[in-house]
This record gives sequence, structure tokens and C-alpha cells, in this order.
Amino acid sequence: MGEIILTMKGIDKTFPGVHALDNVDFELYKGEVHALMGENGAGKSTLMKVLTGIYRKDKGTITYEGKLVEFTNPREAQQAGIVIVHQELNMLGHLTVAQNIFIGREYMKGVKIDDARMNVEASKLFKRLNIDIDPTEKMSNLTVGKQQMCEIAKAISHEAKIIVFDEPSAALTESEVDELFGIIRDLKEKDIGIIYITHRMDEIKIITDRVSVMRDGAYVGTLISEDSTKNDIISMMVGRIIYEEPKTKSTVAKDAPVVLKVENLNAGRSVQDINFELYKGEILGFSGLMGSGRTETARAIFGADPKESGNIYINGAKVEINNPEDAVKHGIGYLSEDRKRFGIVVRRTVSENSTMANLENFMKGIFIDKKKENTETEKYVESLAIKTPSVDQLVVDLSGGNQQKVVLTKWLVKNCDILIFDEPTRGIDVGAKSDIYKLMNELVKEGKSIIMISSELPEVLRMSDRVIVMCEGRKSGELRIEEATQEKIMHLATLDD
Ligand SMILES: Nc1ncnc2c1ncn2[C@@H]1O[C@H](COP(=O)(O)OP(=O)(O)OP(=O)(O)O)[C@@H](O)[C@H]1O
Ligand SMILES: [Mg+2]
Repeated sequence: MGEIILTMKGIDKTFPGVHALDNVDFELYKGEVHALMGENGAGKSTLMKVLTGIYRKDKGTITYEGKLVEFTNPREAQQAGIVIVHQELNMLGHLTVAQNIFIGREYMKGVKIDDARMNVEASKLFKRLNIDIDPTEKMSNLTVGKQQMCEIAKAISHEAKIIVFDEPSAALTESEVDELFGIIRDLKEKDIGIIYITHRMDEIKIITDRVSVMRDGAYVGTLISEDSTKNDIISMMVGRIIYEEPKTKSTVAKDAPVVLKVENLNAGRSVQDINFELYKGEILGFSGLMGSGRTETARAIFGADPKESGNIYINGAKVEINNPEDAVKHGIGYLSEDRKRFGIVVRRTVSENSTMANLENFMKGIFIDKKKENTETEKYVESLAIKTPSVDQLVVDLSGGNQQKVVLTKWLVKNCDILIFDEPTRGIDVGAKSDIYKLMNELVKEGKSIIMISSELPEVLRMSDRVIVMCEGRKSGELRIEEATQEKIMHLATLDD
């Protein structure tokens, strides 16, 4: 391997009530892709924020290109050649793609911003990276994946020597991930050092050279990716081995009643004539490629988007759902895939977020019953192992994966009979994933019913009692779990006629 470009040694960082980094070491070579793994809240993002000058470390040294450095803000780090693509999107929705990419370093024409020039430069950048995005498009019109690709393009446009990717693939479609890997291979060729944070085990062998593992704020060790197995890494992360066996048999009672029936649902191109039934106590998997219409179907059922036609029956009775309030009233909860836009309010506390969808149950006269709110929230903080010093912590200060768990809590507290989970374990570490699976199994055992949209086939096969596959806005098939295989699902997901 090449020359060392970065050495972090003995890094320590404490937040009120949280020892986020405890004497952490990290080393990176030029031209290396170095994965950083660890459970939610292990300290990965914090370590990278210390590196890029977003947080000040309490102790430790950072040596970059042979010199001790101490960045006091991200701009200094950027100027020195270290940039970060953040886990949470930071784009401004009302600006165009090009305006976002050149924010803070706009091209000017006299005293005015030169939009035409920025559009040209952004086009060149996308062309170089082989990304298909229109620079004049408003950012809020892009999918989460495309927004993420813009973040990545923006980082690369800085001509950095080290690029940190904090869970870039969590929001990307499969073909976008391929694009990203192409970009990373190019950067590697140019001898740029890359730090790659991910929860996806299968990516380690494909794109990384080494993997370092953190646990509870401490450095555990570093492995050569090629020589290590998934279980090696997992046991370093969580101290135990987790087996993900597929489900072999439906656990739904033979005489279980239909709780939700969707009939001839239409809503734009993404939702065409959808029909299905959900049984009491069932986990119904929704599989398909990204963009196949699964999220749009969920949103149309939930009333988050208008529908053109179709009927929805709950426990046999026809209901009108024109907005999310109607849906909630009928006992439907929707855990959105895009937590920042639809899931949580980051400037509120864990307990405020948890009870948000269900406030009327936490009122005492005209006031919120704080004690009840906290007690109820604490129950879920424990069962989902949410890492937070207290339920009064602001959600913005939680790690990404723990924010996702708070969204889950919100709908669990609500006590809905029908839950729609859209990519429930995205950005969740392997240990916590298995906690969420356990919880889902408990929920259906209690008689609740779950629609689970998931892009991870092992997850679909492990959790579902039945699988619906979507392709290009239509239901392309339905499989009992006893007959479902990865191959059959993929086949239905990619039908071309
Ligand atoms: N600004 C902050 N204020 C208080 N606590 C914080 C802050 N930022 C992070 N933490 C805490 O520090 C710990 C480490 O968080 P960090 O975001 O680094 O985890 P992570 O490994 O990136 O996890 P994930 O996989 O969920 O993204 C967590 O307990 C988190 O709640
Ligand atoms: Mg993180």
C-alpha cells in the first residue's frame, strides 16, 4: 500500500452525558478506501466531524500529510483538502442543483450571481462523473438518491485529497450505488484517500481495502477487507454473531380476517390498478426495485398523496382517506423512508417526537403530561436500545441510526393496528436491525398487521409472511413465503413486458 496521508491518535470527545469518542486511533493511506463500521451511536460520524473541523476534539492528535493539524471549522479542512459528504442531506430545497453545488463560492458577473456559468460548470462536473441530473432543476424536485448524488458531486468538485462518505449508499438506488462505486474507483486512481462509512456488509468486499471497527466510542481494530468475513466484522461490532435465517413458513392464522383491502388503487404513473389484502397478524412484504411505485402506493393509501381512484376497506368497511389525519384516525401509521422530510422534528426532544402523532393521549387538561410522555418514551428507548443520555435529548444530537429508531417509536406509541414501514432498517446497524425484527414479530403476535417495504431481499425473506412484488407502478406478482426466493422476486421485479 502507498503512503500514509492521515493519522488520528488518541482522539477523545465528550458531549454532555455522552463519551462519544474514547481514545480513538485511525489511519488512512493515499488511494485507500477505508471502511468505518460500528453500531448506531458508536461514534463514526463524530470522529469524522472532528477530522473535518465541525467539532473540536478534547484530546488527541491529527497528522495530515506529515504535519500536525487542528481545523477549527469545516472551511479550513476543505481548504486543506479534506471534505465530507454528510449522512443527513444538507441541500437547500428552494435553490437549483447548480446553486447548491456552488453555494458559498458562487460564480459572479459583476455584483450578480452568474447562474448561466454555474449551470455550465455543474453540467461539466456531472458529465465527468457520469451522473444524469439537470443543474437547473430545483433541488426539492429530486429524489433523495439524486440529492445525495448532488452532495457527492459537490464534495468532489473541491479537488480534495481525502473524501469522507458518511453512509452515502443508504439513500441510493442500486444503479446509483454502482455510479458511486465507479466514482470512488476513479478517485482511488487519483490517489485520493477515502473514508467510507456504511452499515451494508456486502459493500465491504466490493469497494473497500480495509475496515476499521468502532464500538461504544472506542476503536476496536482494523481488518484487511479481502481476508475478513462478514462474521468477523459483526462480532467486532456487536460482540456476538447474528444469523439471518429466512422465514420458511407463514405465521398468520389460517382464519385471520382481512384488516385492510386495497381495490383498484390508481395515483399517477407510479400507482396503477393496485389490488391487495392484508390479514390480521401478517407481515406483508413489498418488494421491487427502487422507483417501482412501492412508496407511492404507501403514500396514496396513507393519504399523503392524492389518489385518482380506488377503494380502501378497513375491517370490511369502506373508508375515505384523503389526508394522513384520516389515515391515523382509521388506525394506520406510516413510517416514512425519508425521515428528515416526513418523520421527525430534529429540534425537538426524543419524547416530544415520540408522542407527536398521538398527543391527545398525553394531555392533562390543556397541558402535556410530561411524566406520562417520558415514561412511555422510556419504554421504547429501552426496547429499541436507542442510544441517548435521556428522553429530553434533542433528536438532532442523536446519531443517524438512532434518529431512525425515534421515528419507529413515534408510530409504536401511537398504537396503530396497521403499520406501514417504508425501509424500516435503512441506516440501522446489524445488531439494532435484529432488535427491530424482534419487535415487528412481537407486534404481529399482538394482532397488529404490518406492510413492510424493503429493498433488501434477505430482509423481505426473513420477515414476510407473503410478498407482493411491484414493477413500474404495477403489482407484478404475489408470492407466499413458502414459495418465495430471491430469484423469483428479482424476476418479477424486472419483468419487461
Ligand atoms: N452534537 C451532539 N450532542 C450530543 N451528543 C451527540 C452529538 N453528536 C453525537 N452525539 C452522541 O454521540 C454518540 C456518537 O454519535 P455518532 O453520530 O458519532 O454515531 P454513529 O456511529 O455515526 O452512528 P450511526 O450509525 O447511527 O450514524 C451518540 O450517542 C450520539 O447521540
Ligand atoms: Mg453516523
